[in-house]
Amino acid sequence: MAMTGVLRPGHAQIRVLGLDEGVKHYRDVLGLVETGRDRQGRVYLKAWDERDHNSVILREADEAGLDFFGFKVADKATLAKLDADLKAYGLATERMPAGELLETGERVRFELPSGHIIELYADKTDVGNGMPYVNPAPWTPAAESGIAPSRMDHCLLYGPDIEKVQDIFVNVLGFYLVEHVVLEDGVNDLAIWLSCSMKAHDIAFVRHPEPGKLHHVSFLLDSWEKVLRAADIMSMNKVAVDIGPTRHGVTRGTTIYAFDPSGNRFETFCGGYQAYPDWQPIKWTWDEVGTGIFYHDRKLNDRFLAVVS
Ligand SMILES: [Fe+2]
Repeated sequence: MAMTGVLRPGHAQIRVLGLDEGVKHYRDVLGLVETGRDRQGRVYLKAWDERDHNSVILREADEAGLDFFGFKVADKATLAKLDADLKAYGLATERMPAGELLETGERVRFELPSGHIIELYADKTDVGNGMPYVNPAPWTPAAESGIAPSRMDHCLLYGPDIEKVQDIFVNVLGFYLVEHVVLEDGVNDLAIWLSCSMKAHDIAFVRHPEPGKLHHVSFLLDSWEKVLRAADIMSMNKVAVDIGPTRHGVTRGTTIYAFDPSGNRFETFCGGYQAYPDWQPIKWTWDEVGTGIFYHDRKLNDRFLAVVS
């Protein structure tokens, strides 16, 4: 097996101010499939083509934002090894028991210097994508219900100490730096994009004084045409659109940023190149930061740096 260690982003637990309007947004407008509810009242959803039980968990709370972001690892031995490696690095880890999150095995949880809670887990029940594992059709009706992304893809988080965050992801968890934007001083980074796979990013961070903030959770679409369709569906449903459809210079993805009813930004995107860990990271300089983030506008909108949840 060529893929070892951390496999992919697996779940994001998002805080919403109203559960019903949150479910309506993520299930009926975004088009995720509801897969369960637990005794705490949390609602579990997955994208239509994902096979594991859940990738988005909604929790009703007084404040919007991200409770935690989880990565699936190859197996239990990998989970134990990464837990030991995180402890050896000096991070405190906590074991969340199997079943605390529906259909999900034991999780190893730790806090990044940026103030974000990251989890690793090896097991989540395979509920399939609605098609058989023998002679499947290419898609199901769920693939056309709402915006209908095929998977929860990555997140962008805002917080301090992103050098330390990068060190943990690269030197403990086996990620690699794909792209970065340097600040005006030409030395320190404003933003970093990190991958554990061949995707241009599995997680990204922007330097920000306030810890633990969410910029967006992102959902993958198959084509630029589906990005346009997503914008149509957002407008039909009076979703607050931040920007787009447009293209990022960083990762080359085509994108729309918009907000859920609680003010959590989400992204629907397509594309981005395939990356390899031996590639030299791409650097964006401060004078071209606008082009890097929004390739067509060539300037940041005020909201990109200021509005987080
Ligand atoms: Fe993104």
